Amino acid sequence: MAVRVGVLGATGAVGQRLIQLLDPHPEFEIAALTASSNSAGKPYRKAAKWRVDSPIPEDVGAMTVKATEPDAVPDDVDLLFSSLPSSVGAKVEPAFCEAGYVMSSNSSNSRMDEDVPLIIPEINGDHLGLLEVQRDERGWDGAMVKNPNCSTITFVPTLAALAEFGLERVHVSTLQAVSGAGYDGVSSMEIIDNAIPYIGSEEDKLETESRKLLGGFDGAELSEHDVDVAASCNRIPTLDGHLENVWVETSEDCSVEHAAEAMRSYPSLDLHSSPEPLIHVFEEPDRPQPRLDRTLGNGMAISAGGIRESTFGLQYNCLAHNTVRGAAGASVLNGELLLENGYL
Ligand SMILES: NC(=O)c1ccc[n+]([C@@H]2O[C@H](COP(=O)([O-])OP(=O)(O)OC[C@H]3O[C@@H](n4cnc5c(N)ncnc54)[C@H](OP(=O)(O)O)[C@@H]3O)[C@@H](O)[C@H]2O)c1
Repeated sequence: MAVRVGVLGATGAVGQRLIQLLDPHPEFEIAALTASSNSAGKPYRKAAKWRVDSPIPEDVGAMTVKATEPDAVPDDVDLLFSSLPSSVGAKVEPAFCEAGYVMSSNSSNSRMDEDVPLIIPEINGDHLGLLEVQRDERGWDGAMVKNPNCSTITFVPTLAALAEFGLERVHVSTLQAVSGAGYDGVSSMEIIDNAIPYIGSEEDKLETESRKLLGGFDGAELSEHDVDVAASCNRIPTLDGHLENVWVETSEDCSVEHAAEAMRSYPSLDLHSSPEPLIHVFEEPDRPQPRLDRTLGNGMAISAGGIRESTFGLQYNCLAHNTVRGAAGASVLNGELLLENGYL
């Protein structure tokens, strides 16, 4: 029997990707859709300005969008995927968890809370055990799991692969697609023929979330990795796919060949949405590129290339599809991990 799931913020850029991934999913069945009061009460087909690259599933298009409040979601829904703006998520997500729903959320609120697991399943799936602490402390029957920011998720898997060489300092500069800002995020007059060297709060997310993801969990609490991370974030006029330039200093020598092999052989998982391999390493110096490589592994693979030595240790480029691996797919994968670990 498929698990009945709901999507909070179902009409937005990430919400639409969630529907695209969940509709054919063998383990999940879409049973509830919510959005703002502008959309509530309308058929999904009318409420959503559908813009993903496949038609709206017939049955989903006919569903009525509900208000984003626990009473509006049927009790037999077990898992909620949240793609709400973080200011809204901060208010309503805890209420859903208190009402007994298990939540896999994209929104940035609570990502750094000490009792909230921030998860990339292939990297730190063991942090899911923190949910026991969360339930004890908050008295929830439900639970809250977060996936990281889309630009964090792009480079952290490559760092996890290099961790055996001792991560000391990391610099990362991003070239982020417009879909990362949501449909109303960046106007065409701002971004065409342009690049914007500022994305509010983004640099802080890369610097802090990466240390949490790479940290340890002793069964009671998390400890952050002590790697220093400095980020610089830029918006560019690509549609999907965040490209990042990374410099990594390690305590032990790490040749270009060892780095490529560590990334290429970093293990994936046997979950429905996990790609194989997790990290696709290019030999060509001009790859990965957003338009050519963002759909590798159904949009769930990380790709890396241009690995070389530099004054600041190793240097390389990496890429991930920001609304799939960086958002909707990341949440779905966390849902699969919750299911495998008996939380549903
Ligand atoms: N885009 C990305 O690549 C990406 C990556 C990682 C994480 N995220 C995070 O995912 C979340 C969603 O991003 P997005 O790009 O999908 O945003 P978006 O396109 O602006 O969509 C926002 C969604 O939230 C709903 N909403 C807005 N205000 C609401 C309210 N007061 N109450 C209930 N629902 C409300 C909207 O419904 P209406 O249509 O009714 O307004 C819509 O469904 C954000 O927290 C974002 O930071 C995005």
